[in-house]
Amino acid sequence: MKKVKSIKLKPKFAGVLKVIGIVLCIFLAIFLFYRKQINDLKKIGYSEVSSNNILFSFKKDEVLSYGENKTLNVAFESRHFNEKYIKRYVKINYVKQDNIIKNINRLIKKGYSNSDINLILSHGTDESVTEFTKRDKVNYLEEFFSLDYAKLENYDRYEAYSDETGENEIDTVIAVNLNLDKEDYTDSVLVEEFSTDMLINKHRHLSEDFEPNDLTEASLEYASEKEIFLSRIAYNAFKEMSDAATKEGYGIIINSAYRSYQDQQDLSDLYLKYYGQEYVDKYVAKPGYSEHQTGLALDVGSKSVNIFANSKEYQWMQDNAYKYGFIQRYSKRDENLTGFRAEAWHYRYVGKDIAKYCHDHNNMSLEEYFVIFLDK
Ligand code: DAL
Ligand code: ZN
Repeated sequence: MKKVKSIKLKPKFAGVLKVIGIVLCIFLAIFLFYRKQINDLKKIGYSEVSSNNILFSFKKDEVLSYGENKTLNVAFESRHFNEKYIKRYVKINYVKQDNIIKNINRLIKKGYSNSDINLILSHGTDESVTEFTKRDKVNYLEEFFSLDYAKLENYDRYEAYSDETGENEIDTVIAVNLNLDKEDYTDSVLVEEFSTDMLINKHRHLSEDFEPNDLTEASLEYASEKEIFLSRIAYNAFKEMSDAATKEGYGIIINSAYRSYQDQQDLSDLYLKYYGQEYVDKYVAKPGYSEHQTGLALDVGSKSVNIFANSKEYQWMQDNAYKYGFIQRYSKRDENLTGFRAEAWHYRYVGKDIAKYCHDHNNMSLEEYFVIFLDK
């Protein structure tokens, strides 16, 4: 057998290799130790960036004692992180806002408590909170912001409205969120999407060419004349309701339903001619501002009596319309909210869930329902 020649290193070179080996081992051990520390933090929800910053500021034990905390995580990620405020960050609920940490710091400096800051962040957007941090400290935040649906950006308007009208917090917040502190038909919101819970009123309008895409002509069994159109979903619900009414000995019929922008203009012109501006303001929406244009609103008549409010069918509708997804849209009690005089005949399809909720809550108006549940 051939003898393998062993390689002999010069002693100096072997020494160097040994040192390199030891250094590498030390580095590896440090690296593994470091990764373990990072992983301990990542396991409880801290990001890589944040975990690094926690380690290098020697705050790992403190952070581990707080456990998972989203606000603290973004604080350690942020270039606005302020070590003095760690205990405050922990107590502040996380919201997804780009400038959250910068804004928390500013609010702390202004003297707000943790619960104030939680109220401010949860009722605002990144933009409105940033604006809010620029103003002098506001006292009595709870007055309006104990309500989930109060909006930070409306703070001054709430104050002005409640001072002017003497309304309580709930009515103030609802009115201002509906823009009732502004002139009718000014600064109105354009509603583009069709949905059965859409809200159209003197402050929320449709474009001239808006048309529901499921318009259907009502048959003469259900409508007082030909060419009455409405959204199919509202029509199906009306048919079901009308059939149930008939079975119980009541006769209801659709007198008017979908009206285009131009139809509403013509109607408004006609009423203006015969009844004058004051009447039109109370009973007829401007074109674009009528929910008849959604195809979801209908004016209901009784088959036996001319004045619907005096009919037995009106009473039947009061008791039963919600079961089929309809609400009476303009009531006497809510004239200030809806902007229109009570209309016994005008019903709106909103779907069974909303209709039942409104019915079960003292006939809540669609305006109130919208502010509380839909206007997020
Ligand atoms: N009469 C209702 C308000 C309308 O014109 O839409
Ligand atoms: Zn109507």
